[in-house]
Amino acid sequence: LTGGAAGAGLGAALGAGAVLGIPALTGTEDAPDPAAAGFGGETLPCHGAHQAGVATAPTAHARYLAFALRPETDRAALARMFRILSDDIEGLASGEAPLADPEPELAARPARLTITVGVGPGLVDRVDPARRPAWLAPLPSFARDALDGRHDGGDLLCLVQADDPLAIAHAARMLARDLRSFAEPLWTQQGFRRARGAEPAGTTMRNLMGQVDGTVNPSPEDPDFADLVWCDGRASASDAADVSWLAGGTALVLRRIRMELDTWDRVDRPGREQTIGRTLADGAPLTGGTERSAADFDARTPHGLPVIPGYAHIRRAHSEDPAERIFRRSANYDADGEAGLVFACFQRDPLRQFVPIQRRLDELDLLNEWVTHTGSAVFAVLPGFAPGGVLGAALLA
Ligand code: HEM
Repeated sequence: LTGGAAGAGLGAALGAGAVLGIPALTGTEDAPDPAAAGFGGETLPCHGAHQAGVATAPTAHARYLAFALRPETDRAALARMFRILSDDIEGLASGEAPLADPEPELAARPARLTITVGVGPGLVDRVDPARRPAWLAPLPSFARDALDGRHDGGDLLCLVQADDPLAIAHAARMLARDLRSFAEPLWTQQGFRRARGAEPAGTTMRNLMGQVDGTVNPSPEDPDFADLVWCDGRASASDAADVSWLAGGTALVLRRIRMELDTWDRVDRPGREQTIGRTLADGAPLTGGTERSAADFDARTPHGLPVIPGYAHIRRAHSEDPAERIFRRSANYDADGEAGLVFACFQRDPLRQFVPIQRRLDELDLLNEWVTHTGSAVFAVLPGFAPGGVLGAALLA
């Protein structure tokens, strides 16, 4: 007998056993097959110096939920609200349904669910305007902005991420229900990457223009990641605000960027690659190598032209100043006949990091022919919390 035939024979015997109602002799109780169990039971810790969902590996799905505080939500109410939110996060992230969850079965498969909470300018002003950093405000306007008012600003943000959209929908509903007496829903945005398992873990994502998107990005393992991304709670020379409550937090800039895929489709492949400055096949810079090779911005063609054109997105977005970098964590959206990028980036200070980069892109970037910024929001992502602790405790202290 070959191994294959033996396997078929065993399978047939087990099948017959199942039909006859005889328990199958698979031995799975001793050694459960992890793949057969699925990944829905996987959890990520929600406690720590930083909230989960920023530096943790990206999941397949994300949903941003923005809220506007009710007029009567005062400081004491905010303290109650953050206590409830903290309990909900602990329950939902661990797969143990929070108090009074009407669908605990849905909570039982979190699929690496994280909930990351951010506060907008209005919430901090309600606590104490002297604690609001200068960057926690609407971004300065850019010439090409076409904000339509449907995804702008907000007092409170819950970013829910997981590998399973059902886990996200359930968590979002629980959060909205528990926040109802404190805040009203303002807008939501949903984003996705490839389904989990569709590509090897760690593969850089592709956006809906087909580009490898996210290659040149600080990594949580980099020694300078903390300086670029995490706030340290110290006031800066240019801003006197008391930001001690933000130590371990970060700043999120969220831009909804529509893509004109129909006109993009008319551009030939070399044109598309020149627009970005990288190849479509593997995301390598046009100056050669592989995805991770450094782009050579000085290289010239035999005709003396730059190999990476002056208008290419990566040339315009590239920062010579190492402190002027952002940590991008975007996702695709495709709904109601519109597609694009839910562009998200984290940094210590958007005025020193996102804004100068976006100013350059706004001024010149061939990609602008096919992309339009239609939504904009800035949130202060709160520091993490410990078991038994409460999110936002330092802000309300
Ligand atoms: C690089 C796409 C908007 C900042 C890239 C790359 C692609 C891309 C394909 C090359 C691969 C990589 O390194 O990730 C897009 C698309 C956008 C968009 C499709 C809009 C729909 C933005 C915005 C910013 C930005 C709004 C920030 C203001 C960057 C940075 C890089 C980059 C910093 C790396 C540049 C370097 O090589 O140093 N983008 N991007 N992008 N993008 Fe964008």
